Order: sequence, then C-alpha cells, then structure tokens
Amino acid sequence: MRKLLRYGLLAMGLALGAGLSGWTADARAEGKEEKKDTCGKAGLPDCPLQAWMKDNMVKPKAAGDWAKLKTGFEKIGKSNPFDKTKDKKEFDAWTDSVKKGIDAADKQNKDDVNGACNDCHNAARKPYRERFRDNKVPN
Ligand code: HEC
Repeated sequence: MRKLLRYGLLAMGLALGAGLSGWTADARAEGKEEKKDTCGKAGLPDCPLQAWMKDNMVKPKAAGDWAKLKTGFEKIGKSNPFDKTKDKKEFDAWTDSVKKGIDAADKQNKDDVNGACNDCHNAARKPYRERFRDNKVPN
C-alpha cells in the first residue's frame, strides 16, 4: 500500500515536471518569435512612422500649429506606400485623407483634421503595419 502511494506520487511528480518543461519550451519559442519585432511593442522604441506621427502630426495638432500640420499632411501624402492598382482601397484612402487634411489645416478646422487622421488610420494603418512598418519616413 505504502509502496503504491510512493510510486503514485513519483508518477505525478514526473508528469508535472514534464508538463512544466513543456511549458517553458513553449514560452521560449514564443520569445524567439517576438525577437523579430524591433520596434512598436512594449519596451521597444517606436517604429519610424509612429515616431514621425507623434512629432509631425500630434504635436502641431495639439499646439494649433496649422502651418506645420499642413506640411505634415503634404509630406505623408508623398510617401503613399500602396500600389495604385493592387491596393486601390488603401491607396485612395491615403491620398483622399491627405487632401482632406490639407484642406482642413488651411481652414483651421480641427474636426475635419481629426476626420482626416481617422480616415487614413481606419483604412491604412493595419496593412501598413503588416507590410511597410520598416519603411523610411518622409523628412
Ligand atoms: C495618409 C495616412 C495617415 C494620415 C493622414 C495620418 N496618419 Fe497617423 N498613422 C498612419 C499610419 C500608417 C500609422 C502606423 C505607423 C506604424 O505603426 O508603424 C500611423 C500612426 C499614428 C500614430 C501612432 C499610433 C501608435 O500606435 O503609437 C499616431 C499617434 C498618429 N498616427 C497620429 C496621427 C494624427 C494626429 C494625424 C492627423 C493630424 C494622423 N496621424 C494622420 C497614417 C496616417
């Protein structure tokens, strides 16, 4: 009886140990996956366009610097990374939101400026992150 109990515990211990080492191996594999990201995640620096947006869009918008905001829209308009025919939806959203933003900055209309930011983000931010995140930023 006592012997049986001891073997039982031993088996349990083994199973637990195997389970644990399996778990650590998984965690390590996941860690490797994450190493591919060099920016844009917690603990990492911003990706190029993320940082650019903060300096050239967020700051002038907050400061009401319409001229700088307009320049920002003009610059981002020149770096549309999408293909005019293959990615028509994203390409058009990019150009249209830039036009809207330039116009709104001219009119100093904050709501329309926000609308322009959102239009582009809604249509293009996710695919941009998936495909162009390492692209150089407009300067
Ligand atoms: C023509 C497209 C376009 C316009 C217009 C645009 N953005 Fe962006 N924005 C992007 C893309 C694409 C990203 C994603 C960059 C990345 O994550 O690498 C981004 C990212 C950002 C981020 C970073 C968010 C994060 O996750 O850290 C901020 C902040 C931002 N934009 C603010 C603005 C503001 C404010 C405006 C308007 C004044 C604006 N953007 C207009 C395309 C645009």
